[in-house]
Amino acid sequence: MPDVVLELDKLRTHFFTDQGEVPAVDGVSLRLHQGEIIGIVGESGCGKSVTSLSIMQLVPNPPGKIMSGHVYFKGEDLVQVSPKRMKQIRGNDIAMIFQEPMTSLNPLFTIGNQLIEAIRNHRKMTKQEARKQAVTMLERVGIPRADEIASEYPHQLSGGMRQRVMIAMAMCCDPKVLIADEPTTALDVTIQAQILDLMRHLNEAHDTAILLITHDLGVVAELCNRVVVMYAGQVVEEGDVRMILKHPKHPYTKGLLKSLPKIHEQSKRLYSIPGVVPKPGTVGHGCRFAARCEVAFERCKTTAPQLQQVATGHQCRCFLYEERGDEVG
Ligand SMILES: Nc1ncnc2c1ncn2[C@@H]1O[C@H](COP(=O)(O)OP(=O)(O)OP(=O)(O)O)[C@@H](O)[C@H]1O
Ligand code: SF4
Ligand SMILES: [Mg+2]
Repeated sequence: MPDVVLELDKLRTHFFTDQGEVPAVDGVSLRLHQGEIIGIVGESGCGKSVTSLSIMQLVPNPPGKIMSGHVYFKGEDLVQVSPKRMKQIRGNDIAMIFQEPMTSLNPLFTIGNQLIEAIRNHRKMTKQEARKQAVTMLERVGIPRADEIASEYPHQLSGGMRQRVMIAMAMCCDPKVLIADEPTTALDVTIQAQILDLMRHLNEAHDTAILLITHDLGVVAELCNRVVVMYAGQVVEEGDVRMILKHPKHPYTKGLLKSLPKIHEQSKRLYSIPGVVPKPGTVGHGCRFAARCEVAFERCKTTAPQLQQVATGHQCRCFLYEERGDEVG
């Protein structure tokens, strides 16, 4: 098994709002190995983005705060490191791309200048050398007329091109870990496929480990080795992609898969899981999925299930499987 590059250990991130304390990430543990691609899936509000912001130490504070737990990057706990050290890690080791690249590109600087800065932060180079490198990077991510585009501002580019620029920026520092939060949601299907190809290339050519956050299980099936299913701030199922897509155990994962449109079936109506994700902090003592679960029984309403191993490398948080394995977190 390759080395673990990133490990989340019982991570808890809360927000303090007028309506009270919101436990957005509630004890999430996961391990990302070198060269591995993990997909994090779950409906809106499950805590996917807050998990990634917590890894990068970018949770807005206030109102957010990492309450407890650890984020180990090659053994170093990012929750404990100084802001200066964290900035180094963000520039050199862990890169992040967001759903809307406009939020992370500076509208006041040209694409070229932003890339040049990213390159020179990482390597000793003259401005001319860095510009040449920037153009090469843009070409590598499939930007046409790269030399010209380097002199343009972010708003002059299409959404797909901006996302490519973000990937080029991420590649500049040759990161060990790439966190991509819904990187293709805003793009049309063809561009989406190209961006996913780029990420696959980055993974294969540089052995970059990728944490891919998406609500699209089709994307997970295509790109990921492992999948982590989140519900209401917690991991409810985790395991090998093929295993989970073929033999999901958790009723929530089953519901997510059932809601996928099927190409060959002319179904009249698409299935959707009844109800909505509860607001963090509003769930009682029982299973957080109980109110929406079609197979819930009495105990589910009063006691919270733990994440347990249900097969080798496969974990699930549901009473239906509890007697079959050991508790893992
Ligand atoms: N700045 C904030 N202030 C207060 N609550 C927040 C803040 N950011 C996130 N939250 C809460 O944390 C919870 C998890 O949000 P998060 O953005 O991680 O969801 P998500 O799984 O990424 O959803 P989506 O698929 O819509 O992106 C939500 O209930 C949200 O309301
Ligand atoms: S523990 Fe109960 S309510 Fe929760 S997912 Fe399993 S069966 Fe459903
Ligand atoms: Mg999100």
